[in-house]
Amino acid sequence: MGFIKRVREEIRVIRERDPAIHSSMEVFLYPSFRVMLHYRIAHRLYQGGHYFLARWISQRGVRRTGIEIHPGAEIGDGFFIDHGNGVIIGETTIIGNNVTLYQGVTLGGTGKEHGKRHPTIEDNVMISAGAKILGSFTIGANSKIGAGSVVLKAVPPNSTVVGVPGRVVKRHNTVCPRETMDHDNLPDPVREDIQNLQEANSVLISRLLETENQIRQLRRELDQEKAEKRENR
Ligand SMILES: CC(C)(COP(=O)(O)OP(=O)(O)OC[C@H]1O[C@@H](n2cnc3c(N)ncnc32)[C@H](O)[C@@H]1OP(=O)(O)O)[C@@H](O)C(=O)NCCC(=O)NCCS
Repeated sequence: MGFIKRVREEIRVIRERDPAIHSSMEVFLYPSFRVMLHYRIAHRLYQGGHYFLARWISQRGVRRTGIEIHPGAEIGDGFFIDHGNGVIIGETTIIGNNVTLYQGVTLGGTGKEHGKRHPTIEDNVMISAGAKILGSFTIGANSKIGAGSVVLKAVPPNSTVVGVPGRVVKRHNTVCPRETMDHDNLPDPVREDIQNLQEANSVLISRLLETENQIRQLRRELDQEKAEKRENR
């Protein structure tokens, strides 16, 4: 997309997404607008291998807006950061189309992963003020992350996640029953199948051992019988 087209696109997104805006001129005062122009240029330089220049432009954007987007991050169209201060987006983050973030959001790593270490955010996701998404998992399309949540695991599409650690409280706009909210204890059919197989296996092994013992016992009795017959002759 050319520069002018990109500027028009950023103006359209802000006008569409922020009800507090009164005129197109106001767009130029938005940190989201300023940082996205810095990011789009820095990202191109990063892709061309000009890492220092990319970081330099990116850091200028940080000083002016308080929003830090690493030039290596991949961001789709229709991206909007409302208010903006304190937003951090890590190098290997991938963001789809029409994603909205509020102030204080971190799309970061846990410090334990290498390579792809930041989240992937699918289309139309909204991440509320102060939420932290940490790790290289995916937030499914059309999901909402509640203010102040700390999300450490993948989120299925069309979900609402709240709390610390983040848990799904709604899917497809329907409240999830309490028992299905506990992500750590969700039913795992593959694990259950393996457990069933292991149990069946140990039953088979104990039956096999029992049969072997019976055969040994029969052999002993047979040998004894033969020996007695020989003695009687
Ligand atoms: C999560 C959010 C987007 C609402 O999504 P929703 O799908 O409409 O969900 P609901 O409002 O129906 O809430 C579902 C449940 O989560 C709870 N909940 C909502 N937001 C929460 C939050 N941030 N932390 C903890 N619990 C929260 C609700 O109380 C409700 O619980 P209940 O079913 O026991 O009553 C919204 O609550 C939120 O966090 N908005 C913040 C937006 C923001 O950052 N604004 C800043 C502007 S400057």
